[in-house]
Amino acid sequence: MLILLVSCQETDYPTDNEQLSHEEQIVIRFSHVVGENTPKGMAAIRFAELVKERSNGHVEIQVFPNGVLYKDGEEMNALLRGDIQMIAPAISKITTLVPEWSVMDLPYAFKNADEVHTYIDSKTGQILMNKLSEHNLLSMGIWDSGFKQLSNSIRPIEEIKDLKGLRMRIMPSDILAEQFSSVGAFPRRIDFNTVFNQLQKGHVDGQENTFTNITSKNLHSLQDYLTVSNHGYLGYLLLMNNNHWNALPKDVQTLLIETLAEVQAWQWQLAKDLSTERLQEIEACDCIDINYLTEQEVQKWESAFDPVYQFYTERYSEKYIEALPKNQV
Ligand code: LMR
Repeated sequence: MLILLVSCQETDYPTDNEQLSHEEQIVIRFSHVVGENTPKGMAAIRFAELVKERSNGHVEIQVFPNGVLYKDGEEMNALLRGDIQMIAPAISKITTLVPEWSVMDLPYAFKNADEVHTYIDSKTGQILMNKLSEHNLLSMGIWDSGFKQLSNSIRPIEEIKDLKGLRMRIMPSDILAEQFSSVGAFPRRIDFNTVFNQLQKGHVDGQENTFTNITSKNLHSLQDYLTVSNHGYLGYLLLMNNNHWNALPKDVQTLLIETLAEVQAWQWQLAKDLSTERLQEIEACDCIDINYLTEQEVQKWESAFDPVYQFYTERYSEKYIEALPKNQV
């Protein structure tokens, strides 16, 4: 196999078309379920552009956004079958395969994205990563969406008890289900791309998501009440199928790793900036009543969710909880 990149110590890729002209093009199909105007959607485009430019078109990342190729619940199997080569599912969606990852869904497990990144880099994060390898999956990085907020059309949610009786859309995760069941609400697992319809038809009363996901689907225009609770992290693992990865030339692997590292740093900042911007847009729309939890209220909410931690410990292992940044001295 002709070596695409001679030296990969720096992000200094050859630009000599001659060198690549006889090489068969490598196509990586990257499917995801959100819009192109979200932190994930924008990062996928940037990643594809940089790889194309740096490989002189030899490596093409074809991005399929909005679930046009595979929907929630389909994309993981498509990756494992080898029909697509890359996905970036919300970590909550990975929990149907590796439930231990639902530690990331525990309410108020993390205060900010930096804490999440530290946890993923820790020994415990490595144990979780190894569990993905058992399923032939390789994680190439983590991208942020942000922290989830609560919206609904029934009543303002100021205290935990206000959640009682509400039908809330969740991603497929037992911990997210427990988060709502434990406070008397009714969780409903619904694909991201049908949330708008399900809210519109009144099949569910509310949902939880990040500011960028809420605005990308205009969910706030349908709902009457928003609580800025920041109660859970939503982020993505960049996954490839190990067979596909191992079949790539080493120089292409290096190109992908280095480009993803650069895009990841850019994406983290983008997710922060866009979250702030999207909240401002929601505030300016004058279309939804917004309630901001105070620090004291957050403390009460966090304690109210203790049974969810208990639920996790009983099913999986306490070690994943003990390693959370908030439990480190
Ligand atoms: C959701 O289903 O709400 C999210 O996982 C969508 C996404 O990929 O951000």
